[in-house]
Amino acid sequence: MALTEIDLYLDASDLNRQLRAEAMSGLTARPKWLSPRWFYDARGSELFEEITRLPEYYPTRAEREILAAYAPEIAEASGAKTLVELGSGSSEKTRLLLDAIKPDCFMPLDVSATALREAAAALATEYPAMKVHGLVADFTRHLNRLPRGGQRLVAFLGGTIGNLIPAEREEFLSGLRSALDPGEWLLLGTDLVKDPEVLVRAYDDAQGVTAEFNRNVLHRLNAELAADFEPEAFSHVAHWDADQEWIEMRLRASRPMTVHLRRLDMTVEFAAGEQLHTEVSAKFRQAGIAAELRHAGFTPVRWWTDTGHRFGLTLAVAA
Ligand code: AVJ
Repeated sequence: MALTEIDLYLDASDLNRQLRAEAMSGLTARPKWLSPRWFYDARGSELFEEITRLPEYYPTRAEREILAAYAPEIAEASGAKTLVELGSGSSEKTRLLLDAIKPDCFMPLDVSATALREAAAALATEYPAMKVHGLVADFTRHLNRLPRGGQRLVAFLGGTIGNLIPAEREEFLSGLRSALDPGEWLLLGTDLVKDPEVLVRAYDDAQGVTAEFNRNVLHRLNAELAADFEPEAFSHVAHWDADQEWIEMRLRASRPMTVHLRRLDMTVEFAAGEQLHTEVSAKFRQAGIAAELRHAGFTPVRWWTDTGHRFGLTLAVAA
């Protein structure tokens, strides 16, 4: 059995403290908001896996197509010996990279301890020669904890960078650049701007799995902050913002409601039709991505898309 090590930079009590702080600021703001990181408890991570298999949700399949075609080129161009994966989840597509790179060490990083442990255990069994060193951590806060050295390639796949608004992306990319040494690599997956109907369908599927994923944040507030949200009284909204070029997910109160969050001694009023903002999922263009990477100290080296030009993958080197 290969070596498996899991470092915890976040535990349930840190997360609970952050959830409390965010509920206090987000639920008293106008519009009300909560960040998408709260989707990913054990149930939310499972719902997300289900989303990736929906006919409408093309990004996972499009990115897998690119990885299947170009993983050998990525391995060859980077010469990486360590593969780091940010927001790794189930690490399902990662196998395509592992098979091509054959790294000495794989370091998945995720906020969900359950998803991370399951992925780490499965990969350690499937790749017995490889060390698996997982980090239960937040990619917006703990990049400085990544161990240095080891000729790293950091994969940030799935379009997850789109959950950050431009100012957050700038901070994230410069932080990541500082965590790398010159000559180390970034592999960045980005969903691309396309027909708004296709985009909205991907975030508002016919089976209602995305709606359930969105409402999961309310279940989580109920469980972790002793709140009394009625998740079914909130409808799922997926809105395309053509100016910002992002999808916004929201939860819309179907009627006036008074919600209590007992652990916070807090009462929150919702007007009928009021929307709680839960996620931004930005869509990109190649030139914009290259500019953001350069600005953060990376040099884009290769760019690939799937045959439908729906999703882009950039390989960049730390300058
Ligand atoms: C995991 C952040 C890439 O934005 O497409 C899927 C999450 N939200 N359906 C995305 C998500 C709604 C997903 N990412």
